[in-house]
Amino acid sequence: MNKKLMSAAMAATMVASMAIGTTAFAEGETVGILMPTQSSERWINDGANMKAQLEEKGYTVELQYAEDDTAQQVSQLENYVGKGVNCLVIAAIDSDVLVNAEAQAKEAGIPIIAYDRLLMNTDAVSYYATFDNRGVGQVIGQYIKDTKDLEAARKAGESYTIEFFMGSPDDNNALFLYNGVMDVLQEYLDDGTLVCKSGRVSFEDTCILRWDQQTAQSNCENILTANYADEDLDIACTAFDGFAYGVKAALQGAGYTEENWPLVTGQDSEVMATKNIINGTQTMSIYKDTRLLASKAVTMVDAVLQGTEPEINDTEQYNNGVITVPTYMCTPVAVDQSNYQEILIDGGYYTEDQLAQ
Ligand code: BGC
Repeated sequence: MNKKLMSAAMAATMVASMAIGTTAFAEGETVGILMPTQSSERWINDGANMKAQLEEKGYTVELQYAEDDTAQQVSQLENYVGKGVNCLVIAAIDSDVLVNAEAQAKEAGIPIIAYDRLLMNTDAVSYYATFDNRGVGQVIGQYIKDTKDLEAARKAGESYTIEFFMGSPDDNNALFLYNGVMDVLQEYLDDGTLVCKSGRVSFEDTCILRWDQQTAQSNCENILTANYADEDLDIACTAFDGFAYGVKAALQGAGYTEENWPLVTGQDSEVMATKNIINGTQTMSIYKDTRLLASKAVTMVDAVLQGTEPEINDTEQYNNGVITVPTYMCTPVAVDQSNYQEILIDGGYYTEDQLAQ
C-alpha cells in the first residue's frame, strides 16, 4: 500500500472507530420525546425525524403526543422521569404547567432539551433548538410589505385593509412572531397605509389559544360580518397554516372569489397549505425544515449525554424568566407560488405527487 493510501485507510479506520465508539455509548441510552399534538402535520414530521435520527445514532427512543391536553403532557413527562430515561426532548403545549415535573427531572439528573418552543420559568433546561421566531414574523411582515408594495401605497396615499390571527398566548413563540410582524408593519398601521377595521391589532386581541383552527375561522367570520360588509379584506396575516385553513373557510362562506381573494399568510408549509398556495387560496407560508431542526436537537442530546459540543448561535434572545438558554436558531424561509417547486420539491421535502390537487 502506498503512503497516501495507507494514511487514507488509517483515517477511515479512525473515523469508523470513533463512530462505533459513539454508537456503542449511545446504545442502551433512552431519549424520551414529548410532542404537543398530531393534529398538525409539522409535529408528526418533527417526531418522526427526531426518532429516526436518534435511532440511527444508537439511542432507544420513546415518543409521545399529548393532543394539546396539558394534563396529559404533564403525566407523560412524570412517566418518563419515573422510568428513568437518560434525556428528555420537549415541545411543550403550555410549558408553565411542566415546571414541577421538569424540576423532578433535574433532581433525577435527566437533562432536558427544549424543542421548537422554549420551556419557560425553569432552570432544568440545557439547550434550545428552534427557528428564529422573531425572524418568522419579520419574514411574514416583509412578504406583505413587498407583495403589496406598501411604500408605493404610502406615497400614493392608498391603503389596504388587514386583519391579524396570531398564535397561542401560552407559547413563547407566538409573541416573538407577533413582534417580528410588527417590526415591519407597525409603521404602516401608524400612518394609515394599513387599516385594521376590526381594531384588533394588539397581541392580546389577536392571539388564539392552542393555535385552534376553528377559533381562527369563527374569529374571521365575525370580523368579516361586522367590519367588511362594504369593503373587501385585502390581507389576512395569520401565524399558522391551520389558521389559514380557517380563514379560507370563512372567506368562502362570505362569498370571496379569485377576484377579491386577500393575501393570506401562514406558517409550516404543510402539504395542505402548499396545495392551497398552488391553487391560490393561500398566498405564502413559512417553510421550516423539520429535518434540520431535528438534527440540531440531536446534537444537543449528544452534547448532554456524550459530552460533545453542540452548535449554538444565540445566547441572548431566549431568556425563560429564570435563565437564558443557549440556543440554535434555524432560518425560516418564505414559500409561495414562485419558489415552492425549488424549495419544497427539489429540496426533497415533498414529492410532486403529494402536492397533486
Ligand atoms: C411553532 C409553529 C407552529 C405552531 C402551531 C409554534 O410553536 O413554532 O411552527 O405553527 O406552534 O403548531
